[in-house]
Amino acid sequence: MLTFALPTGRSFGECVQILERSGLPVSGLKDAGRSLVVEEGAFRYILSKPSDVPAMVYYGAADVAIVGNDVIEEAGIALAELLDTGLGRCRMAVAGPPGIAEKFRGEASRMMGLKVATKYTRLADKTFACWGAQVKLLKLNGSVELAPALGLADCIFDVVQTGRTLKANGLTVIKETLPVSLRLVAGISSVQLRWNAIFGVVDAVSKAVEAER
Ligand code: PRP
Repeated sequence: MLTFALPTGRSFGECVQILERSGLPVSGLKDAGRSLVVEEGAFRYILSKPSDVPAMVYYGAADVAIVGNDVIEEAGIALAELLDTGLGRCRMAVAGPPGIAEKFRGEASRMMGLKVATKYTRLADKTFACWGAQVKLLKLNGSVELAPALGLADCIFDVVQTGRTLKANGLTVIKETLPVSLRLVAGISSVQLRWNAIFGVVDAVSKAVEAER
């Protein structure tokens, strides 16, 4: 049996669609209710909070997973990336109220000391360090867009898909950074020990994804 970790939340529906188009059994997944483990045919699916998916794979609780590269980068965990599905496209971006955009023009020193709210502290730290700016990070676990209006932060560093959440909260994209999409990944030891079964999944998913393009 191959164990597959899938992220709950906004990517879950898209992951189930990918698996269905790939010919994997998903009827139990569609009807999972509050179950966090679903077994169907030759697969066991673990439904996990997105930020925990890389650890599920890394520590061997799951053989394979579909998860965004934003989450993988933030986890800082080495996984074997088997396929970029190109689905679930979004991007990481700095966003803020209109007045703050001028701090991002010209010298990096203008960004110094900015308060940045984010779920992605590791990625944010790396990104601002690359720009040569030292900022103060405020870790929030969700609804990051609230932070500027509440005076908790000058700007945010978050994932943007449709841009609707930003717009609804009076924020705009200031600087885009990492492009994000859903990746099929595996743990290094699963790749070594269970390659035949994993290859079957990679092949099926890549054909399904190609057919969509
Ligand atoms: C993500 C992200 C934004 C929103 C962006 O949050 O943190 O809030 O989606 O999407 P949009 O550009 O299509 O509006 P998520 O829905 O994962 O919930 P969370 O804020 O509770 O983490």
